[in-house]
Amino acid sequence: MKKGVIFDLDGVIVSTDGLHYKAWKQMADREGIYFDQVINNRLRGVSRMESLAIILERAEKTYTDEEKLEMASMKNELYRESLSTLTPNDILPGVTPVLEKLRAMGVKLAIGSSSRNTPAILKQIGLGDFFDAVADGNQIQNSKPDPEVFLLAAKLLGLPPEECVVVEDAFAGIDAAKAGGMKALGVGDASRYEKADITAPTLAEIAPEKLIE
Ligand code: BG6
Ligand code: MG
Repeated sequence: MKKGVIFDLDGVIVSTDGLHYKAWKQMADREGIYFDQVINNRLRGVSRMESLAIILERAEKTYTDEEKLEMASMKNELYRESLSTLTPNDILPGVTPVLEKLRAMGVKLAIGSSSRNTPAILKQIGLGDFFDAVADGNQIQNSKPDPEVFLLAAKLLGLPPEECVVVEDAFAGIDAAKAGGMKALGVGDASRYEKADITAPTLAEIAPEKLIE
């Protein structure tokens, strides 16, 4: 039985995809860069600057590093404004019962997210003080598929990676978990990823006992 579960945040605990999309879309429209939901799917689990680089693949001009920082910061301001609309009602189906059952079973719980907005999001949805450890984009150099954020989460929990299981909705996140020597549950988009050890459409469809088996 695993002793710790590390949850990705965006797309696993709460659905912020639409909010990221809206903010990036506004930025891309302002620059006249084509951007759609299919491209947005590629941004899942990827850091802010790497997301911008993917969007700029469609740009007709080359941007300086300073301009890129400005664009990322404009997107983040728009995104931060939209985060103020999040409430505990935005926690995804099945999440709260799974968290409560795992905690009652004595399992340690952590967040492992590429997002630098993790603390703000957790606070907004009422889980600011819930997790035993939080590893996020503010503490790491390399974002998923690099395992850094999950290895840090395991370390903060005081557990070796092989005692932890990761819950992810991004292909890059499953790759990161595997690279870190952890088992991975793929939900949402990642429920159709063959590298996931187990899959479920949402956390509502998986028994906590099965998750830590
Ligand atoms: C991840 C999201 O959780 O965080 C990505 O899946 C996002 O889409 C990344 O780009 C970084 O987020 P932020 O909040 O630091 O811009
Ligand atoms: Mg995610």
